[in-house]
Amino acid sequence: MLEQLQITDPLEDIIGLQSHFLSSKSMEDRKTLGQFFTGSIVSEYMASLINKPSSKSVRLLDAGAGTGILTASTALHCLKLGCKTVHAVLYELDSKAIPSLEQTLKIVQNTFGEQRASFTFEIRCDDFVLARPDKDEDTQPFDVCVINPPYFKYSVQESPYAKAASDLYHGDPNIYASFTAIAMSSIKQGGQLVAITPRSFTNGLYFKGFRSYMLAESALDLIHIFKKRDKVFKNEDSAVLQENVICRFVKGSEQSDITVRSSNCDSSISNADEEHYALPLIIDPSNDQKIIRIPESAYEAAILRQAETFPTTFENAGYFISTGRVVEHRTRTYITDDINTDNSVPLYRPHNVSPLQASWTGEHKKDVVFKLNDGHEKHTMENGNFVLLKRFSSKDEKRRLVSGVHLKNAHDCELIGFGNKTNYIGLDDGNLTKVEAYGLSAVFNSSFMDKYFRCISGNTQVNATEIRVIKFPTREQVKEIGRLAQNLKSVETSEIDLIVNPILGVMDAI
Ligand SMILES: C[S@@+](CC[C@H](N)C(=O)[O-])C[C@H]1O[C@@H](n2cnc3c(N)ncnc32)[C@H](O)[C@@H]1O
Repeated sequence: MLEQLQITDPLEDIIGLQSHFLSSKSMEDRKTLGQFFTGSIVSEYMASLINKPSSKSVRLLDAGAGTGILTASTALHCLKLGCKTVHAVLYELDSKAIPSLEQTLKIVQNTFGEQRASFTFEIRCDDFVLARPDKDEDTQPFDVCVINPPYFKYSVQESPYAKAASDLYHGDPNIYASFTAIAMSSIKQGGQLVAITPRSFTNGLYFKGFRSYMLAESALDLIHIFKKRDKVFKNEDSAVLQENVICRFVKGSEQSDITVRSSNCDSSISNADEEHYALPLIIDPSNDQKIIRIPESAYEAAILRQAETFPTTFENAGYFISTGRVVEHRTRTYITDDINTDNSVPLYRPHNVSPLQASWTGEHKKDVVFKLNDGHEKHTMENGNFVLLKRFSSKDEKRRLVSGVHLKNAHDCELIGFGNKTNYIGLDDGNLTKVEAYGLSAVFNSSFMDKYFRCISGNTQVNATEIRVIKFPTREQVKEIGRLAQNLKSVETSEIDLIVNPILGVMDAI
């Protein structure tokens, strides 16, 4: 029975082994090890991204192999490309997965045997990050590596993973970055690395060191993005859905144009929309952050191109952005919902921020005040005109950027509290006028800016570091927008767009 199936489609049996293994484990267990397994559609697609390696005998690396679906698909793809000798080295920490992994590899071995080809393998039931095959003299570099690394954050103080890859890049953002960087370090010049990971590494300060390392070592020549927060992995818990990307890196290659594909996570994957972009459009050369911007369509690329023509950046225009100073869990004793407390000031939380308007009336059930007790100076700041920009949008919220104006005269107080779930924006030099504040807020609330920002950031967080470097209109344009926006009767995005788009000379974003 098994042999018959192998002749028709070895992957069917391999998927069977995978499902059987997954059903034997609790969700808790799988989460601890980051066991979100790749289904056959994504696995075959990832394998198909590998171009024929030049070596006669191909060395394949799988880091976090699970039950081996990625190695199986990749080895079979290499066989189709005419590679007759493939040797795979697979790391998997979970000893319970090893019997299924072995069975998977034997199925692959049989298929190779039937075609007079040779597939050999070596399973290392070991910790990939701590074992560091790239530093092991007995492990030769690899030609090909296709991975779906585990992802979880770890404690920088206590985890053995902290600094485990610090010789490659600085920062300890997430285990998937360590996996991917060590995989890169383990392949040879000209070697190919295909990885499916969260999109989070493409922007943000935490991953800056990782991005710099990857882009210095290799050319990122293909990005595949899933259009929706689809269920990409087999046993994914819908609560952890996040945007995932597949990237192909070619080590030591000269970085040139980048192909961006987008599809849903179903059989349409191999028929994805495909566009080719010049390098500077995807990796912003104007600063050292190496932010990887991903337009999901030609239309989004047009938005990105238009934004590139803006005369300045947010920071160079003369604005600053900071995260609100009040970290609520560290300042509990200062915060009360008794809004009539003496010697206290309003504390702005995200619910106080809506398009064009930041408003604290004391009437909302979540409104709180910040008591000016000893030590408050570290958390409060001088009241003034500011623009508040929410730091988080909910997963399903249509807009990423929501910003409202806070005017000094809204409250009769010298000091004010801004929570760290909002960013506050002002002028480097001097105070924002009401007009300029409305102009800034309107720019952030426009559809164009929202779409532009989405190309830059895949997560729902709006970080000050990304805002600082975005392309931006001049202060004159901002003020011109503000003069009209301050009189708007409606806060509908379409009304805001009618003011912003003609002044910035940008197309209507849909
Ligand atoms: C996201 S799963 C991917 C499994 C498989 N490659 C696939 O695509 O279906 C990550 C795998 O890495 C394993 N893993 C987690 N931490 C590891 C470590 N430090 N070293 C080696 N393997 C690890 C997990 O047990 C899990 O099987």
